Amino acid sequence: MRTQAALYEEIDLELSWSEAELPERERTKHVHRLHPYLGKYVPQLVETFLRRYGHPGGLVWDPFAGSGTTLVEANAFGAPAAGCDVSAFNCLLARVKTAEYQGEALLADVVALAECGEARERGAPSAYLAEWYAPRALAELLAFRDRIPGTAYPDLWRVVLSRAARSARLARHFDLDFPAEPVRGEYACYKHRRLCRPVEEADKFLRRYVRDAVQRVLQFADVRGCSEATVLHGDARALDPPGPVDIVVTSPPYPGLIDYHEQHVYAFELLGLERRDDDEIGRGVAGYCEGVAAVLRRAGQALRPGGRVVVVVNDRRGLYDGILDAAGLRLEDRMLRHVNRRTGRRKGEYFEEVLVAVPAGRRPRAATTRA
Ligand SMILES: C[S@@+](CC[C@H](N)C(=O)[O-])C[C@H]1O[C@@H](n2cnc3c(N)ncnc32)[C@H](O)[C@@H]1O
Repeated sequence: MRTQAALYEEIDLELSWSEAELPERERTKHVHRLHPYLGKYVPQLVETFLRRYGHPGGLVWDPFAGSGTTLVEANAFGAPAAGCDVSAFNCLLARVKTAEYQGEALLADVVALAECGEARERGAPSAYLAEWYAPRALAELLAFRDRIPGTAYPDLWRVVLSRAARSARLARHFDLDFPAEPVRGEYACYKHRRLCRPVEEADKFLRRYVRDAVQRVLQFADVRGCSEATVLHGDARALDPPGPVDIVVTSPPYPGLIDYHEQHVYAFELLGLERRDDDEIGRGVAGYCEGVAAVLRRAGQALRPGGRVVVVVNDRRGLYDGILDAAGLRLEDRMLRHVNRRTGRRKGEYFEEVLVAVPAGRRPRAATTRA
């Protein structure tokens, strides 16, 4: 285990942006903050490596696509991109972020979504929805869901619905990531420093997030390229990219850290998405190294000559030398990055590593000039 002082000695300053160099509004620019997602990397990291090793027009592959950060940045860089994820919600989010939108059709959707329709007869809500929502909040969420079919961009509004559903749960205001149980009465809220009550309505969130989503997709439209972004839903151990890959930029899950299905459980419930929890890598340590190695081996085999695999990890357990070896990859460069987490709830210093690897059989090349 390296000491804090030793870690500071190794930090790559080019990749360790301070708050002043890379403020929160840049880290969460346009579609990158369309919906909360725990465990994503900063878009500027992807941008840096695409500029360093990628080529406009060359396919970018992210087998652990998550919220779609790599795909969005690849598109802005001018490269076609493809990614896969085992979580149907993450796939929906990545598709929505990379899609193309027309201003007029968006505005027509906004008007249609604001219209009050006939109240519909519904059966009893699922046990989860009945437990986690006040009756009024649930009725407002379901009424919004009823208005989505028939809009021009149903998937965008499904993401907005999910975002509002996250905010409208009977959860403590400071505990929105993984609330353990619903709260129904007053509680001491350390975020607002007073007694708070859980929210009991959803319309105010729906209105706010509809507006925010429109602004964000239109902001991205200003930098969006015309290359295609493909999102595959499935287990990356069994999926290949749609063609020869120029560069892989990815961040695998880490064992026992984040349950990627559970963090969006409300979306799975409201949107009726298929869960594939058993295929999720990292829910435990068992099978973790073999799983990630299998994914990276496929990625390495899909590389064009000269292509690279860039993996962002927090390798506290020192697993990645073995994983790269098992994947048939050779480490070309290893960089340590200090992560500025001003907005995160977790305290303390946080470091992550960027591993740059190539197929083990490839002859070492002269060092490339960094952008
Ligand atoms: C660290 S996150 C990636 C975050 C992403 N870089 C971003 O910025 O949004 C890892 C992702 O791997 C996905 N995942 C876990 N097991 C998987 C599997 N077997 N196949 C494909 N994706 C998987 C999780 O659902 C999660 O979205």
